[in-house]
Amino acid sequence: MLPFSEACERNKDPILGILREAFADLSGVVEIGSGTGQHAVYFARRLSHLDWQPTDRAENLPTLAARVALDGPPNLRSPVELDVTSASWPFVRTDAVFSANTLHIMSWAEVVSFFRGVGRILGPGGLLAVYGPFRYAGRYTSESNAAFDRGLRERDAASGIRDFEAVSELAAGQGLAPLADHAMPANNQLLLWRR
Ligand SMILES: C[S@@+](CC[C@H](N)C(=O)[O-])C[C@H]1O[C@@H](n2cnc3c(N)ncnc32)[C@H](O)[C@@H]1O
Repeated sequence: MLPFSEACERNKDPILGILREAFADLSGVVEIGSGTGQHAVYFARRLSHLDWQPTDRAENLPTLAARVALDGPPNLRSPVELDVTSASWPFVRTDAVFSANTLHIMSWAEVVSFFRGVGRILGPGGLLAVYGPFRYAGRYTSESNAAFDRGLRERDAASGIRDFEAVSELAAGQGLAPLADHAMPANNQLLLWRR
């Protein structure tokens, strides 16, 4: 039985609604931290003009590859190993990067590496789409997010819901201009930047 995320099932349609428009004129997407691969399979099938490249750390690759092999449409590539802290990423250029529910799992040093790497591979006009919970002006967007963050930090002190302003600063440092901040169901955001 492959790993399965209930959250992916709940958030895939609201995310698809935004990506359909944002990625309409693009041809390739690199996904970072693809996890179970449910998003990759779902989005690639419905955005068939895109070449969708899932990635994750080595430990998640076997199950991710199994999901892609089982359910993936032709425009979904075989997953590639990518830890954002790696000095050389296995891509030179992409039109877009998508990542869901990863920045609060990574340490801050990994988040910094994430933006540096994205800055290296996104071409001019390229898009970055990041889905997940964020804090604004030091405040959680809901009590449930505050409780979620406490749980994350208890399990791993380096993880935690990120401050929108701090993430925005990293993005700006890579020449990424803010494009949109979509409020999503269950107190999540979908943030879009353009290079
Ligand atoms: C909560 S899961 C989210 C998975 C999937 N994107 C989703 O929305 O269900 C977090 C993901 O981030 C990945 N991740 C954590 N640290 C990473 C790193 N340093 N480099 C790349 N991926 C990382 C994990 O392996 C995992 O797949």
